Amino acid sequence: MTAQLIDGNALSRQLRSNVAERALALKAKGVTPGLAVVLVGDNPASQVYVRNKVKACHDAGLHSVLEQYPADLGEAELLARVEALNNDPAIHGILVQLPLPKHIDAQKVIEAISPAKDVDGFHIASAGALMTGMPGFWPCTPYGCMKMLESIGYDLAGRHAVVIGRSNIVGKPMALMLLAKDATVTVCHSRTKDLKAQTLQADVIVAAVGKRDVLTADMVKPGAVVLDVGMNRNDEGKLCGDVDFDGVKAVASHITPVPGGVGPMTITMLLVNTLEAAERAAGA
Ligand code: GUN
Repeated sequence: MTAQLIDGNALSRQLRSNVAERALALKAKGVTPGLAVVLVGDNPASQVYVRNKVKACHDAGLHSVLEQYPADLGEAELLARVEALNNDPAIHGILVQLPLPKHIDAQKVIEAISPAKDVDGFHIASAGALMTGMPGFWPCTPYGCMKMLESIGYDLAGRHAVVIGRSNIVGKPMALMLLAKDATVTVCHSRTKDLKAQTLQADVIVAAVGKRDVLTADMVKPGAVVLDVGMNRNDEGKLCGDVDFDGVKAVASHITPVPGGVGPMTITMLLVNTLEAAERAAGA
């Protein structure tokens, strides 16, 4: 079997064009959806990420502002900026790029963001909403994974999903989203005794560890769907995921590539969340 690719670029184009249409409809009512992206310090990877987020907003017709501050910005000053953005009616979504410099308590900053503008879905109110099935913003990467499963018409009810990784940003919310769609969910992590025994049971595997070759062909049940959240470099410096793509694609029914898989979906879902924040604020 050669797995079908789930193309994150193609799906993103489709979803972003829908965002652009809905943004136009909101603009006709006098509301332009707006995202504020806050970057503290000069982490080169973060600079690329925030530039891509701002560009994606622009391309979809969303208003965006990028606020950049030096690495020695004080925590109190950052909290004051977040408060000002909470009160700014032109801003519907606030994203503080992580990681933050060590002298700033990142959780405190996230909790300062109004849950109504928490388009990253990192606030504990957003996490609680996801856990209890209440309306709220879902973290963009696992939300993008759910959209990818939806795009292939995959019915999760009664299926066994294995999530590798237990981060607050991907692994844990991913497990909750799969559970909400009636999958039986196993969460594996660095202390899991026999990862292969778990993954071999899985109909769906989400690899979100940040280490290459975490999932190899011998660990995958024939016909399983494999989503690769990893973003790593191989020995030649080429971008690769957590999954041994060439091996696993011979066993899986569907697989996401890296690059061009989950990556673009993360920004797409940020646009979707920002648009929804604006629609909710406008009472649409
Ligand atoms: N750093 C890496 N990914 C993300 C993300 O999705 N949101 C924020 N705020 N910071 C990040």
